[in-house]
Amino acid sequence: MHWFIFVAFFVLNNAPTCKSGNHENHEKTKYYKVSRWSHLNELVDNTVSAYRDCDTKDCSCYERVLERDLRIWEEKRGITEEHLKAAIPYGVHYQILDHKLYRQDDCMFPFRCSGVEHFLLELVNDLPDMELVINVKDWPQVHRQRDPLPVLSFSKVGYQNWDIMYPAWTFWEGGPAVWPIYPTGLGRWDLQRKIIAKAAEQWPWNKKEDKAFFRGSRTSPERDPLILLSRKEEDLVDAQYTKNQAWKSEADTLYRPPAKEIKLEEHCKYRYLFNFRGVAASFRFKHLFLCGSTVFHVGNEWLEFFYPALKPWVHYVPVKQDLTDARELLEYAKSNPDVMEGIAERGRKFITDHLRMEDVSCYWRKLLQNYAKLQRFTPKRNTSYKEIKPK
Ligand SMILES: *[C@@H]1O[C@H](CO)[C@@H](O)[C@H](O)[C@H]1NC(C)=O
Repeated sequence: MHWFIFVAFFVLNNAPTCKSGNHENHEKTKYYKVSRWSHLNELVDNTVSAYRDCDTKDCSCYERVLERDLRIWEEKRGITEEHLKAAIPYGVHYQILDHKLYRQDDCMFPFRCSGVEHFLLELVNDLPDMELVINVKDWPQVHRQRDPLPVLSFSKVGYQNWDIMYPAWTFWEGGPAVWPIYPTGLGRWDLQRKIIAKAAEQWPWNKKEDKAFFRGSRTSPERDPLILLSRKEEDLVDAQYTKNQAWKSEADTLYRPPAKEIKLEEHCKYRYLFNFRGVAASFRFKHLFLCGSTVFHVGNEWLEFFYPALKPWVHYVPVKQDLTDARELLEYAKSNPDVMEGIAERGRKFITDHLRMEDVSCYWRKLLQNYAKLQRFTPKRNTSYKEIKPK
């Protein structure tokens, strides 16, 4: 491909066919542009034509994720009482018995438990008896280097963890509290969907600033290269660190004052929105799509249950974890606005059509039904557990 570009250049620079300087320059620029990006354009074309959208019924987009997460328990011929008991220290122990929900007293993050319980209580009338260990920490719990344990977690690295993914509490409540914009914590995905979609209407593609945007705290130095690029190239990207709870000095915002917090719907003003992992997968990801902007997704290891259904170049632009290709991808974006608008629109449509609240509930239902089928023991009530009732 580089060879081809070189030849194209050589031919153009040496072809004295047109003496009008302007015309020649124009042709040269055009030809250069086409060949510089033709490998990416081809990649996008091929990926998009090979892609088939999934059915909106029965949360079918995520079927394979569930299969993959539960496969180990089919291979082991089910979850025994010993497996379950061994998993209890890694999460919050729940019991569903006779269509009632019970929980151990202790939950380190009450709002997260409550966000999980919203979905469990919605389904409890249709569910068979079962016992569950639900991890409400950010981090997955069961590394693949050890024996599997049946622990449910919201996020994991696919090849690294045995954890079974469940839709995060933050679809309902218990998301990160960001003062002053989300003082009670990010939640209510159904409401966020409406709020951001409405903001998106005010920022159609042609009105959006042709620039990348990021606001977030410095959870890891991995984000630094984008912040530094932004300081050098304001026209390409506006990326700044905000404070987090641990902020002590400007060192924590890479030696600049912390930037103001920006609501998710205010991101819609920009064409290209960067998503980084947080401690695990980032809750920001799903929201960014609703803006109708192009999501630049950094790294591909950290998952939530719906990530594998989103495809690079179809729904988002994949960026290397170390950001070494960020600058080139942004140059590509700015030279190929139609390609970017296509990716933005497919991403927006996917999340709008396939990540509705009913799809989240649907995934919980399928997950719990299939999980229960794998259980090889009869759940027995721990009488020290209290019943959890709807609020
Ligand atoms: C019931 O739960 C308590 C508190 O978590 C625990 O100490 C106890 O061992 C459990 N009982 C049984 C029978 O599992």
